[in-house]
Amino acid sequence: MTITELKQHFFSELQPSYPSEEVQSFFSILSEEILKKTRLELALEPDATISVLEQEQFETAVIRLKAQEPIQYIIGRTDFFGLSFTLNSHTLIPRPETEELVAWILELQKNRTEETVSVLDLGTGSGCIAVTLAKYLPQAQVDAMDISEGALEIAKENAAYHDVSVTFRHQDIFSIGELPQPYDLIVSNPPYVRELEKEHMQPNVLQFEPEAALFVPNDNPLRFYQKIAQLAKKGLRDQGVLYFEINEYLSNDMRQMLNNEGFAQVVIKQDMFGKDRMIKATIHAND
Ligand SMILES: C[S@@+](CC[C@H](N)C(=O)[O-])C[C@H]1O[C@@H](n2cnc3c(N)ncnc32)[C@H](O)[C@@H]1O
Repeated sequence: MTITELKQHFFSELQPSYPSEEVQSFFSILSEEILKKTRLELALEPDATISVLEQEQFETAVIRLKAQEPIQYIIGRTDFFGLSFTLNSHTLIPRPETEELVAWILELQKNRTEETVSVLDLGTGSGCIAVTLAKYLPQAQVDAMDISEGALEIAKENAAYHDVSVTFRHQDIFSIGELPQPYDLIVSNPPYVRELEKEHMQPNVLQFEPEAALFVPNDNPLRFYQKIAQLAKKGLRDQGVLYFEINEYLSNDMRQMLNNEGFAQVVIKQDMFGKDRMIKATIHAND
């Protein structure tokens, strides 16, 4: 089969289910992964033939795409902050808003002069936040926790792949009364989607992404944030900072909760779409 024939077959199979631009994007991603060829190389070699194995790999991907499986799970990786992260069904697919949270942290950390910065990432999933901070904050000593052993295995692989040192702990945050050590920076993107928001979500998220990474009960949507705020209040060093990714609909409740838990300075930041998406809090007003 030639590349042109492969492409025609791929489009005819998937166009009933996806818009053309998305099919093109899937084709480019799979060509890079399977054929190790860029879009330009494909265009320059339309008559090149592909092997039977490559053809089978495309066929398997088509079947999975037809079942609405996210392309990131099909290729088993995604890019986050310019770094490649391995994923599996136990890990949430890292989102662009989480990249914005990491960018904000790095921007603010740039001005700090401490020799070491101890960092804790709660609910680390693929390790995208922990590994990226370890990579780009040279003075950071990073710990990360998650309740999912399946996610932690992948997070460890990602840390090894990027050659950074992160101490991973298998931990349910609700089962601890305090953190193992004091930290300068605590960050979390915990589960925050209310059950009531499920009806507005894409079927591929509901069907394929790990439920425990996403959902919280309607009547207690801030349960993770409150628990983490309580741990952070005792576990942050004097000038320490707590960062969260937040549910865009709950920023006022978040501010209120953090004030009630004793955080003096709370800053809410919007994402690139103008949605309240990140929050930063410190115990002392002048930090
Ligand atoms: C929204 S995902 C975030 C994953 C990753 N940090 C990211 O930003 O893509 C939330 C993570 O919290 C973990 N988690 C859920 N309940 C937990 C608990 N009780 N204790 C610790 N981690 C938990 C999930 O396994 C999941 O990896």
